[in-house]
Amino acid sequence: MVDFLKLAQPGITELSPYQPGKPVEELERELGIADIIKLASNENPLGPSPVVTASISGQLAELARYPDGSAYQLKDKLQAKLGIVPAMVTVGNGSNDVLELVARVFLGPGLESIVSEHSFVVYPLVTKSLGAELTVIPAIDFGQDLKATLAAISDRTRIVFIANPNNPTGTWVSKQSLLSFLDAVPEEVLVVLDEAYAEYVAEPDYPNGLELVGDYPNLIVTRTFSKAYGLAGLRIGYSVSHPDIADLMNRVRQPFNVNAMSLAAALVALDDEAHLQESIRVNNEGMKTLTDACDQLGLDYIPSVGNFLTIDFGRDAMPIYERLLREGVIVRPIGVYGMPNHLRVTIGLPEENMRFIDSLKEALSGGVKEALSGGVKEALSGGVKEALSGGVKEALSGGLPKALSGGVTPPPSKDPKQDG
Ligand SMILES: Cc1ncc(COP(=O)(O)O)c(C=O)c1O
Repeated sequence: MVDFLKLAQPGITELSPYQPGKPVEELERELGIADIIKLASNENPLGPSPVVTASISGQLAELARYPDGSAYQLKDKLQAKLGIVPAMVTVGNGSNDVLELVARVFLGPGLESIVSEHSFVVYPLVTKSLGAELTVIPAIDFGQDLKATLAAISDRTRIVFIANPNNPTGTWVSKQSLLSFLDAVPEEVLVVLDEAYAEYVAEPDYPNGLELVGDYPNLIVTRTFSKAYGLAGLRIGYSVSHPDIADLMNRVRQPFNVNAMSLAAALVALDDEAHLQESIRVNNEGMKTLTDACDQLGLDYIPSVGNFLTIDFGRDAMPIYERLLREGVIVRPIGVYGMPNHLRVTIGLPEENMRFIDSLKEALSGGVKEALSGGVKEALSGGVKEALSGGVKEALSGGLPKALSGGVTPPPSKDPKQDG
């Protein structure tokens, strides 16, 4: 039998496949329950604008035809709506596709990209798949350290990836620090500014990358219709860059990488400003609901400007993830991002957020109940263990107050069996 691993290109064998959020259908099959909610993939809980559905239906009669590979109408609309020059646009099958196109044009063996610790997982994926090296800069407070990034640039560096805001941390870089970075970075180093969640950000000193591309020829801004526009299932995104870079990317792009449905949907989605604003409003409200709940529960979280919140449980988060699954709530474990104690939760509809909060309380108190009954080893680690061994106060201030206030009190004397 041929060892196909040996035949694979360098870099490919060390990749792990991208782990998407657990599909609802899969959990339904596993648990035999219905009414599952998924807050795991940073999708828009409102779905797309209603005008999108109508527009897609209109495409059905044209399915035998190839789409417009040049995306002429969409580029025209982007110009009208956002002032983007068509020659600067490269469309992609989601912005993932565009990120890969940039990498294919500029990376290869002997070259490197620089990313931040905890940054979006696709950057390492596209880098390594091309046999290029990856340099990871330690994060500061889970955010990107642009000074250290600048200092790490070498002759081999071709791309610096900056997710603004980043997934899964929700952290962002300010206009001032971005401009200082762009002013100092060598012109031959491409800066990919990934603005997948830009529409959600209302911070006054959040930089709009689209306004900077004209001033910095080495800046490539990526945007997507998957998040605030609610079109994740259709797969459409784009980049804005110097026309020469767009030209290169368009050379490696599959001629029909964006399908006709997606093009038609994106076109009308851009026009429905009311739906976009409603999506942002629902997200802001939901973010407040979730952060308030975390505050009440004494849970730490990373302040986020995206459509998700990353919560710190101070101990291995997998048991909590598993218990949430049993409650029919799918969130995202992020151990793969070097954050095994955190879970990422997408902001949902008001009722979904409440369901998550109730399930979280249940999951936390369930852990205590299980721990008290001696059944679950992992529940005995961290705060629960302290609670059981008499450090109840610490546990109460460290994230389990609601769990313990549900009528569950620590046993009066220490039972060795329960120490696991
Ligand atoms: C930071 C970031 N960039 C890019 C993407 C890619 O999104 P898409 O390919 O759906 O446009 C995502 C998706 O989650 C993301 O979180």
